[in-house]
Formats: sequence, C-alpha cells, structure tokens
Amino acid sequence: MKKKISVIGLGNRGTEYMGFLKAFHSSRVEIHALCDIRQQALDDISPKFSVPKERQFISTESFFAQGVISDALIISTQDASHYEIAKQAILTGYKLILLEKPVSGIKEEYISLRNLARENKTLLIVCHVLRYSNYYGKIKEIITSGQIGDIVTINHTENVGYFHFAHSFVRGNWRNEFTSTPSILAKCCHDLDLIAWFMNSPCVSVNSVGSLNFFKKENAPAGATPACMGGCKVKKNCPYDAESLYITDPFYKAKFIKYMGRTLTGKASNSKKDIKDAIKNGDYGRCVFMCDNNVCDNQLVTMTFENGASAVLNMNGFSDKMFRECHIVGTKGELIGYGTKLKMNIFGGKSKTIHTFSPNIGGHVEGDIRLVSRFVKILCGDTKDLTDITTIDATVASHNMALAAEESRKSGGATVFVKDDE
Ligand SMILES: NC(=O)c1ccc[n+]([C@@H]2O[C@H](COP(=O)([O-])OP(=O)(O)OC[C@H]3O[C@@H](n4cnc5c(N)ncnc54)[C@H](O)[C@@H]3O)[C@@H](O)[C@H]2O)c1
Repeated sequence: MKKKISVIGLGNRGTEYMGFLKAFHSSRVEIHALCDIRQQALDDISPKFSVPKERQFISTESFFAQGVISDALIISTQDASHYEIAKQAILTGYKLILLEKPVSGIKEEYISLRNLARENKTLLIVCHVLRYSNYYGKIKEIITSGQIGDIVTINHTENVGYFHFAHSFVRGNWRNEFTSTPSILAKCCHDLDLIAWFMNSPCVSVNSVGSLNFFKKENAPAGATPACMGGCKVKKNCPYDAESLYITDPFYKAKFIKYMGRTLTGKASNSKKDIKDAIKNGDYGRCVFMCDNNVCDNQLVTMTFENGASAVLNMNGFSDKMFRECHIVGTKGELIGYGTKLKMNIFGGKSKTIHTFSPNIGGHVEGDIRLVSRFVKILCGDTKDLTDITTIDATVASHNMALAAEESRKSGGATVFVKDDE
C-alpha cells in the first residue's frame, strides 16, 4: 500500500516537493490531503494530484481537526508560521514531518520545538537541502576520510545574485526581518548548517558586521519613481527594472524569474498579462530603492569552534550569478569548490578535480530532489542511519549561529558566545 503524505503550504516549495514526489516516487507514495489559506492554491493544485474536495483544507485548524490522516506531513508555509504549525502537527500526533527552513527566528521557539519532537518521538526534518546533494555530500565524505587532515579554517561565500536578492530580500517575502527573519538566517541558515556539519564541532563564538548598504531611499537615482512602470526615467539603465527582469530579460535570469511567476501572480499558471498586471500593481514592481525592506544586503560572520578551527561566512546580494564558493583548509590539504566544480589539493602531493554525479543544476535543486528521495526512504521504513539527516536537533546549531551573528552585528561586531542548549 502506498504511503500517504499531506502538504500544508502550496506555494513554490510545497509544489516543487510534490512535483518530485509524483515524478520519482509515485509507486511508493501519494499526496493524500492539501491545506492552504488561499482557495486559488487549492483549486490550482488539487486536480494535479487528484485530491478530492473532502481532503482539501482552507485552514490549519480544519486540517488538524481531522487528527492524523496521513503517514507524513510536509509544512511549506512562510517562515513566521513554521513554529505554530509544526507544534500543532506534533501535538496532533504526526510522527514524520518535513518542515521548511528557517524553523523560527526566536530561539525559545525552535528549542521548544526540538524538545517537543524529542518528547513525542517525532522525526522532524528541516529542509536544509544542500546537505543532501552529491556535491556537498562529497565534501563531507572527503573531510571525514581525513584526506585533507584536520580542518583549520573554512572560507565560505554565499553570492545570492543581484536579481535574486532584489526579488526575495528587497521586494519580496524575506525583505523585512519583522515579518520573516534577518537575511543571515533566512538565506544563510543553509550555509551555517553546512559549516557546522563540516566542522563537526560546536561553534563557540561569533562576530559579525554587515548592513543594508544599497537598497535604500538615499541611493535612488534622480528620475526614479516608486514603481518601475510608473514613469521611471532611469529604468533603461537600471539592472533592477522589474519590467526587464520579469518580462524581457535574457535566459538565465529569466529562468529564475519564470519560476517566480506564481509568487508574483498567486496563480500556478500565469500569462504575460498576469505578470504585467502584477508588476504594475504589486510589490514586485516597486523601485528597489523605495521598498519597506530592512534586511542586510551584505554580512560577514566569523566563527570559532570548540576544536580550535575558525570559519568565515560572507553573504552578499550583488553577484551576477547565484553561486556558493567554499575554501576548506585542512592540515594536509584543501578543498576549493564553486557550487558544482570541486578541486582538492594535497600539500606536497597531487591536485585533483573531483567529479560528483549530479545534473548540472547546482547544489540546490539537486539537494531538493535528493532530500525528497531520502524523506520517502525514511517514510518507507529505511531509518537505519539518520546520522546526517537534518533533524531539528541538528538545526539548532545553525540557527544559534545566525542569531548570535545578528546579536553581534547589532552591537557593532562584539563577540557573542554561542551557548550549548542541551
Ligand atoms: N529549503 C530551501 O532551500 C528553501 C528555499 C526557498 C524557500 N524556503 C522556505 O520555504 C518556505 C515556503 O517558501 P515558498 O517560496 O514556497 O513560499 P510561498 O509564499 O510560495 O508559499 C507559501 C504557501 O503557504 C501558504 N500559507 C501561508 N500561511 C499558511 C497557513 N497558515 N496555513 C496554510 N497555508 C499557508 C500560502 O498561501 C502559500 O501558498 C519559506 O519558509 C521559505 O523560507 C526554503
């Protein structure tokens, strides 16, 4: 019999996971029930997965009122709702939950969720998708094998991409720390999770500097207007012009932006007219210098670890492409990675390009696909080795590091000690 999965939150992430479940695992699992606060989302998505009316829910209250109706649950709503929905899910009795990151920007919340999961023997997996990719898995494997010796330092850069940053962190859902979380948590909990995973040693202290440097009113050029399509005189030379980004830009950015059509319009399938209307009237057509954003567009975090090693994370929103760079320096050798390509140099020995089997789509989407596969395996009973699974227990480390970084940044870069929460 097929295992049943319910999904709460039918936006980009929820539907992507459901797509992978259907494409790769339909012989083992089926989508049983759906929940979203938007009727449009239920109407769009339910037919694609043959979910009947009686298993479509317009609120989490009505969903949880049914008790446990599936073998597993995916929670892919926006950041601020994760804690309450996950708590409700555990208390209702769900034993296997896939929860989108970040868990919460409030420490008491993610710690209490961890404790609740432990008490109820719930496997709460957080979607730190990068860990599941072959590329990052290979890095971890090499570190664990001892080939580069003991880690001395890690230098990791998250180049968010100027168009991605503008979309998500200036105009979009993660622009304001009070409605979502600071960018160092929202965007970089993945990077901090990787650093913590590679180090395999608790983070002791953090220092951080950073700011909202560019996307603010005083940087608006003369002639700019609040909306790109509202008569802006400088849109022709502006890389952030919404009309160009969302409608006329060339291929590689268009690919990202196309994926975001649902975010702009609220509709699963959207026409050019829908997108144009959304840009004319909605958040995503706003001048990037005149939004209500407050999250950092650049932040540096330095970290020390119990094993004596150190790390630096550099997040910036200005690169031409979206990519992560990582330089891991050990006592015997180093690893240098650019998100898909990986090179290992052994001191006094050979240099080697490491090939990882992956579709040429970068760690993120590959990680998404493999996370879903791992989730299905666990759901179907393969729970032998959960060592590298991103459980809520493992997630606490990255979230602690992010919150400590924010505390440090807000106090001018002062050292903040990261407490052990056991
Ligand atoms: N793991 C990753 O790499 C990764 C990447 C991007 C985003 N995310 C995270 O995934 C989450 C979802 O992101 P998204 O881009 O899919 O967002 P989205 O806005 O496209 O989708 C969220 C959906 O949840 C629904 N929703 C909101 N509140 C709800 C509630 N209380 N009950 C039921 N449904 C509700 C919305 O109507 C919407 O359909 C976010 O927390 C985001 O930070 C994770």
